[in-house]
Amino acid sequence: MKKKMVTALLAVSMLAGLSAVNVMAADDDTITVGFSQVGAESDWRTANTESMKSTFSEDNGYELIFDDAQQKQENQLTAIRNFIQQEVDYIVLAPVTETGWDTVLQEAKDAGIPVIIVDRMVDVSDDSLYTAWVGSNFKLEGQKAMAWLDAYLEAKGRGDEEINLVDIQGTIGASAQIGRTEGFDEAVEAHDNWTTLAQQSGEFTQAKGQEVMESILKQSGDDIDVVYCENDNEAFGAIDAIKAAGYEVGGEEGQILVMSFDTTNAGLTQTLSGEITCDTECNPLHGPRVEEIIQKLEAGEDVDKQAFVDEVAFASDDTVTKVTIDGTDYDITPITQEIIDGRAY
Ligand code: AHR
Repeated sequence: MKKKMVTALLAVSMLAGLSAVNVMAADDDTITVGFSQVGAESDWRTANTESMKSTFSEDNGYELIFDDAQQKQENQLTAIRNFIQQEVDYIVLAPVTETGWDTVLQEAKDAGIPVIIVDRMVDVSDDSLYTAWVGSNFKLEGQKAMAWLDAYLEAKGRGDEEINLVDIQGTIGASAQIGRTEGFDEAVEAHDNWTTLAQQSGEFTQAKGQEVMESILKQSGDDIDVVYCENDNEAFGAIDAIKAAGYEVGGEEGQILVMSFDTTNAGLTQTLSGEITCDTECNPLHGPRVEEIIQKLEAGEDVDKQAFVDEVAFASDDTVTKVTIDGTDYDITPITQEIIDGRAY
């Protein structure tokens, strides 16, 4: 975009007999960014879109071409091809699933456009097809959540009890689903007294989370001890379904314990009320992180190929305040209204 603009100005200036100095002064430094966003499936996603839009604003020197793919990979492929045609300076991709990107990313590479992957990861045969990735360690999120559950049940004297779990998964094939499901599966596998009753996708939406929970409740409502929702919106839907079916949500015996991910404002509010017992953070504020990468590339500096965001976790009470994964301690913070009020999303 910048290059095209300068060329056009040069031609106009030469016709008008202006000097080269005037041409340089007229150069437009606007950086054009094409952003292919997954969709608007969750509160997390809304916060993520807002972070990107407020960062890549005109005032900050950017032209943002935003495309909402409505959770469909084919829409993302079309958007990327449009960005290539428009000769954007950078392509930013929040991929819906990990696989299926090799061809289109090769096209971007052939066009000389750097691609920055954000949030979920891509699984490509050649890492040079993208310039950098920034996002969450989704497996670690799942491990923290399940380590919390283990310590919580132990502290409540239920360490040896038979525990039946339900996993409402995210969009199948998305890094956030793959990592969180792995964390869940490995923990269930490690406990002889834990059983997975059902494992089904809620597609990261409230409506699907509710629908899936309703059907699982019909089959085995009386047996469920724990519902592990792979994001806050699924948890909102699952909680509605659980309550509508006449069961209680909460962390005490006889209640259905609901766990979640994202720590959005609404998710933490339900954690404070005790309806969600543990909510593990997935930080959506990637706009400034992606901008830092772009500014370094503009300055000709090296960037990290992959960067994980530091994340925390919150619980409805102080039964468990720390978990340890692979020798590293992670705090689990009892949620308060002050914490919720001080957070940006
Ligand atoms: O990839 C991040 C996940 O996607 C968030 O957990 C979820 O809310 C979103 O839809």
